[in-house]
Amino acid sequence: MPTVDDRSAWPPVAETKQPASMDDIVARFPNGLALEDFTPFHRSLELRLSRAYWRKRGGQAFTEREVPNDITNDGTRAARAAEVLFAHCIELAESGGLGGPIRVLEFGVGLGLFARLFLWSFRDLCGREKRDFFARLTYYATDVSERNLADIQRLGTLEEFGEHVRLGQVDATRPDELLPLGAMRAIFHNYLYDALPQSLVLRQDGRWYELYIQARLEDPWRVPELTDMSLPSFIEILRRGDEDSLDALVPLFSYVQAERSFFPVDLTTVPFGAEVQQFADAALQPWVDATVGQDRNVRMWVPWGGMTSFQGSIPLLEPDGLMLFTDYGSTELSEVTGARVYQRYGAGVCVNVNFPLLDGFMRSQGFQVSVPAGDDDLPLHARLASKAALPRTHVRFVDAFAAADFEAMDTHLADGRRLSRKDVAKALEHYRSAVQMFPCNWKVLAELAHVENAFAENHEGALALIDQAIALNPTCSSDLWSERGDILVLLGQMAEAERSYARGVALNGMHSRCHYNLAWLWAEQGRFPEALEACGRALATDRTGAASETILAKQKDILARRREAYDAERERILLRHT
Ligand SMILES: C[S@@+](CC[C@H](N)C(=O)[O-])C[C@H]1O[C@@H](n2cnc3c(N)ncnc32)[C@H](O)[C@@H]1O
Repeated sequence: MPTVDDRSAWPPVAETKQPASMDDIVARFPNGLALEDFTPFHRSLELRLSRAYWRKRGGQAFTEREVPNDITNDGTRAARAAEVLFAHCIELAESGGLGGPIRVLEFGVGLGLFARLFLWSFRDLCGREKRDFFARLTYYATDVSERNLADIQRLGTLEEFGEHVRLGQVDATRPDELLPLGAMRAIFHNYLYDALPQSLVLRQDGRWYELYIQARLEDPWRVPELTDMSLPSFIEILRRGDEDSLDALVPLFSYVQAERSFFPVDLTTVPFGAEVQQFADAALQPWVDATVGQDRNVRMWVPWGGMTSFQGSIPLLEPDGLMLFTDYGSTELSEVTGARVYQRYGAGVCVNVNFPLLDGFMRSQGFQVSVPAGDDDLPLHARLASKAALPRTHVRFVDAFAAADFEAMDTHLADGRRLSRKDVAKALEHYRSAVQMFPCNWKVLAELAHVENAFAENHEGALALIDQAIALNPTCSSDLWSERGDILVLLGQMAEAERSYARGVALNGMHSRCHYNLAWLWAEQGRFPEALEACGRALATDRTGAASETILAKQKDILARRREAYDAERERILLRHT
């Protein structure tokens, strides 16, 4: 429960009929308003707001780029995960161990784009290799956020897979709810453990301490401005503290200041405290002693939400099934003890995953855990865990997720970008090599389409490429529809270009570039009132202001052209009357 600072003697809610005036609020809270006293990190207001954010923000958390997600959703890792499951099915089929349905479960699907691209690649692979695995497959796409699932359904992101997909609202820390579905062949967690509960613990002079957070609202007078609430009803929500009413506070998150401190803790009260103690004694402390000096402090994040999810998922898994997950975090002991506090994406709080602790934990549960070559150097780390030996599946995984391929793709892209203005033929070669390595990467296809269109003037080729990218990702990127419109304009297909830009706006009403492009197109067609309205929307949605100058210049241009058109019309009328 949050504790509200009562020292201000704010009048009880029932007696306060009118919102307080701004002057009154400023006078009463010159130093801001203490929202909550020091509370363990995972129970703090900041974390409760984060949970409310995940539940309510939906796909916009990703399409508005509040939460970075390209790396798990661009198709590279989804295609590689499909190859791993395919190799796994072959391995079992050849030993006679793959009968009946093939069930795959993903927790925390977000946009559902990893699921889409995984299914796309797996279907393609099964088709090419003439195997019936896809026909037997059901994919359970789950998230704690009903809004994410509603967005997936509304946009139709997984529609084309029909009965192969089931959507469900599931808390990844309570996987037991899924037991009645039957055993899963594979379980995926992508970029999820970092969003599940964690605790930061510190050992100093043999005593353990835990990170606590105190929350303060710097500018309480902003409450009525940013929410529908008066300050008293805001305070009442904090007093009640239930998760549903916290939704109303999410818009204020950027005004909530967190103060941090460590408080003594009995490690047995921290989930997986015994594992933490063991990890500190056997791994972290010896490393610190050897490199920093004897008996220095050790500190570490405990990803106990992820550990709970992993452990709780074990009964869901076929005895010879696999768990594959990707996340960001610390892979070296040096990174573990020096890990940064935490990150906020929108109001969502994410914490580096402590891989050494997690890897050890998975092994202690009887799992064989594979780490791809060069994994430490990648921004996103991957793990494959299985109880059964599955040698061919593990070899395929280690190969499919090896850093070399991802790094080679990035190098081709960097070279392509560098050369696109100087030597377009060479730039195209680099882009094509990247596409050849990852044909499912819709972002690379779109970039190649852009270069073909804008630099190589191969508009027909560009259209074919952008259509390929859109077939992979038809619902989650208005950039793709905008690029398609730009290509169609150069091909002189204005009606289809308009449909493309409009599709971009329908998918994401906050996409400034699509609004701008519609303004441009309508201005060309002399549809000035619509063009001016679209300019307004482009400006309103250009939240960074990066394109505002261009939009304002276009608006000025449209106003001038409307004036010219008006003058010309008047002149024609006058001529008619003289
Ligand atoms: C960082 S995002 C990653 C989304 C997606 N997997 C991706 O790679 O783009 C975290 C996702 O986990 C979901 N999430 C947060 N807490 C969860 C929980 N307890 N159980 C299931 N999903 C959760 C959020 O709604 C969000 O979709």
